[in-house]
Parts: sequence; structure tokens; C-alpha cells
Amino acid sequence: MINDLQCWLVLMALLWFSLGCFIIWALGFTEFSYLGRHGLRNLYNWFSWAYQGKWKNKNYTSPKITNKLFLQPLKDALGQNQNSKMLDLACGTGRISLMVLQQDWFKGQIKALDFSEGMLSQFKKSLQKLSSEKQIEIIQKDLAIWAKEETTEKFEAITLMEAGEFLPDFIQVVKRAALSLKTNGLFLLTKPPEYMAWLYLGRKQTNKQITELLKECGFDKIQINNWTSRYEVIWAWKA
Ligand SMILES: C[S@@+](CC[C@H](N)C(=O)[O-])C[C@H]1O[C@@H](n2cnc3c(N)ncnc32)[C@H](O)[C@@H]1O
Repeated sequence: MINDLQCWLVLMALLWFSLGCFIIWALGFTEFSYLGRHGLRNLYNWFSWAYQGKWKNKNYTSPKITNKLFLQPLKDALGQNQNSKMLDLACGTGRISLMVLQQDWFKGQIKALDFSEGMLSQFKKSLQKLSSEKQIEIIQKDLAIWAKEETTEKFEAITLMEAGEFLPDFIQVVKRAALSLKTNGLFLLTKPPEYMAWLYLGRKQTNKQITELLKECGFDKIQINNWTSRYEVIWAWKA
């Protein structure tokens, strides 16, 4: 016969087990980024060879979606100006930079920055197939360091794709991006959809939090667009 105490102990054990499972799931879902940037960097180094597999999904291959969400706003910001400059933060294997480099209208320069040597080496392999290597500089750097550096260099467009929610220093990175953009410059970034955003505690990923942060940093026109089940795309224009 199970007595009250045994029943209570079983319930408590189940509760702790469920809580443990939830914490492990949440840590995995947030790519273990709450356990420190060292682990996250290793994760990207180890799996860089497989990263581009997801680009086969129709949300990545559709020219209509790509043009509407990414290329058109970037074209509006960068134009055909030879002096225009784009900064690709957490560039990874370079999806957005490679896309821009292949556009006839793009005549400017790109700086692309990431802390994973594995991701950057995949990026460099893809670049070898293009003839635009002179238009790009690839830099291995942690965004936590970049966010604290003093510089007067300004860009027409800054991108932060599929990475903001993993950055412990997300708020500082947004502040620094705002300082590094010219007036009317575009900050193109992604965020998790609302139903997942609450998981990224302290990183201001809900629509309300991110809109307030962007406004505080001097962006006036802010638009959040649907994209994949995992990401929404934000266009924020610097006033
Ligand atoms: C999901 S990938 C996105 C890559 C690319 N932006 C894209 O759209 O395919 C996230 C990238 O953020 C980079 N990253 C994460 N934390 C970083 C940090 N603190 N400094 C620099 N790069 C970071 C990782 O190395 C990885 O390449």
C-alpha cells in the first residue's frame, strides 16, 4: 500500500525530473549560450561543416522572400555607391554577405565579423568561387569585444542575422551598432517569434522589448516581418 508520504515523494521526484528536463531542453534550445561564449564558439566550430544544410529550406531559397526581406532594404540603404559600407555581424558562413556581393547594384565594401574560425573558414571557401574578394574583409572577433571598442567608422547598413538571441551582450551590441550607423542607415536583424522570445531571458527579444531598445538607440522606423518558424526579420532605420 502506498502511504501519503510515498505519494508525496513520488510527486516531488516527478516535479524535479520535469523541471530538470525543461532546463536541459531550454539550454539546448538556446544553443547553450547561457553557459558561456566559449561553449557556443566550440559548438559552431564543430558543426560549421553542416551549418549551410538549412539553406535548402524554401524560406532561404525563395528569390521572392529573399528579395523582399533582405535584398530590397539593403539596396535602399547601400545603393550603387562605391563608398557604401556594410557590416555583417556574427556573419557565420556568410549568407547575407555572399548574397549582397553577388548583386550587380552592389559596388561598395563589406566587413564581416564572427568569433568562430570554423564558420569563417566555410565562408572563405564560398568566397573563392566569387570574383569579389576585394570587396570584403573578414575579421575573427568576439562581438563582446567589438561592442566595447571605440571607433568613428560608420556604415550604411549593419546586419545581425540569426545571432542576437545568443549574445549575452545583445543590448551593448545594439547600442554599438546604432553608433556605427550613418543617419538613414539600416540595421537588419532577426529575432525569435513571440512564442519563443521569452526563453531568452535578459536579452530583450520580445517585440515590445526590442522595439523599445531600438527606439532608445535612435531608430525611428522599425518594422518586424514574419520569416521562418524560428525567426522574424527586423528593419530598423536610424533617424
Ligand atoms: C546561427 S549562426 C548565424 C550565422 C549567419 N549570420 C547566418 O545568418 O547564417 C550564429 C553565428 O553567431 C556567431 N556568434 C555567436 N556569438 C558570437 C559572438 N559573441 N561574437 C561573434 N560571433 C558570435 C556564431 O559563431 C555563428 O556563426
